[in-house]
Amino acid sequence: MKFFIDTANLDQIKEAEELGILDGVTTNPSLMAKEGITGEKNILNHYLNICKIVNGDVSAEVISTNLKQMIKEGEVLANLHPQIVVKIPMIKDGVKALKYFNDVNIKTNCTLIFSAGQALLAAKAGATYVSPFIGRLDDVSNDGLVLIEEIRGIYDNYNFNTQILAASIRHSMHIINCAKIGADVMTGPLSSILGLLKHPLTDIGLAKFLSDYKKGN
Ligand code: E4P
Repeated sequence: MKFFIDTANLDQIKEAEELGILDGVTTNPSLMAKEGITGEKNILNHYLNICKIVNGDVSAEVISTNLKQMIKEGEVLANLHPQIVVKIPMIKDGVKALKYFNDVNIKTNCTLIFSAGQALLAAKAGATYVSPFIGRLDDVSNDGLVLIEEIRGIYDNYNFNTQILAASIRHSMHIINCAKIGADVMTGPLSSILGLLKHPLTDIGLAKFLSDYKKGN
């Protein structure tokens, strides 16, 4: 399972990278705005800074909603750096854009996936990744993990190469359950990744080992 971090915060990306387990980064316009990154030039430059930290796929989202503009914007993003994956929303023109980018060998991440039907369409159009938003489904009393299971079943039935990128991860149990189901990738906040480290018995056990060592020396 690949681990992506879902942030535009360079310090958090560095921290995850230093752990040695980071495979990529996902961003979106809201995450960029949260870091105070605005204006096309600054945004493009920020993607380059992210690419310098992590050696893996970096999703950069288009903000256009019509095919022509999405293609123009996506090509600018893809030409910025070989690690860039063009993030496209699940709308009608988005499906057409996925097909276009697949035909010219540009990687894509189809975002805002909330149903198995949307994931099927994105795979048919040749998306590299689909991003089902499991946390946002949980927020409205729909089980996000059920969607991951459904998509896994459909993709396995037909050997689709599209990778399931479980997104909108809220906590460590989301990561563990996505791994059990067989999501190819998860993208989550640093806190959800660091949460995997924690167990009180590890802390108690380590404290005992260290105090016993001191007694004998
Ligand atoms: C996916 O790539 C999105 O950036 C993200 O996971 C959305 O998560 P949120 O629901 O926490 O905003």
